[in-house]
Amino acid sequence: MRPRFITLEGGEGVGKSTNLAFIEQYLISRGVDLVRTREPGGTPLGERIRGLLLESADMSSHAELLLVFAARAQHVAEVIRPALAAGQWVLSDRFTDASYAYQGGGRELEISIIGVLEQWVQQELKPDLTLLLDAPVEIGMARARNRGAADRFEAEDLRFFEKVRAAYLARAAEFPERIKCVDASGTLESVQAAIAGHLDHLLLASA
Ligand code: TMP
Repeated sequence: MRPRFITLEGGEGVGKSTNLAFIEQYLISRGVDLVRTREPGGTPLGERIRGLLLESADMSSHAELLLVFAARAQHVAEVIRPALAAGQWVLSDRFTDASYAYQGGGRELEISIIGVLEQWVQQELKPDLTLLLDAPVEIGMARARNRGAADRFEAEDLRFFEKVRAAYLARAAEFPERIKCVDASGTLESVQAAIAGHLDHLLLASA
């Protein structure tokens, strides 16, 4: 089977963790040798950077953008490229579309700068499939609030998450072949049926 790189994206409280576990099980049950990872993080250095990103009280938007790409550079070099080179599939909880959504959309940083960093850090590396879990911001924020103490991103307001959502949807409209938008406001069964459909398509094309 041809190795594939899959990413899962979405705003807060859209059910990313539950569906990540579903995707992992689905692929493993179909014989895929899978590496599950996450951003920011996925490596010892990346996890330290994640701690800074989620907790530091004072952080400029520019520092934030550079830190997510610093973590990503390490992640690409240490985990993603070696796994794909070894014939494994990679499933990442978030990747560069999150930078376009959170730093580009939410923080309103220049998209062109994100593009330059993406090109420099990843070169030709892009996900083969990105599943975007989308739900109205109010629904996601209400779910996220029930999880307890908010990190630096979760503490942002409704307007911030509206911009994040709009940026994700704009990415999906720009790259319809790669980014598949899944309505996460439906039942878990309907969400997972949609996800399974996209995975089946990729599995078929990878055989
Ligand atoms: P999580 O919610 O998936 O645990 O991710 C942690 C936070 O990191 C989340 O609020 C989104 C944020 N983030 C960015 O702002 N930019 C990025 O490029 C990535 C990967 C995550």
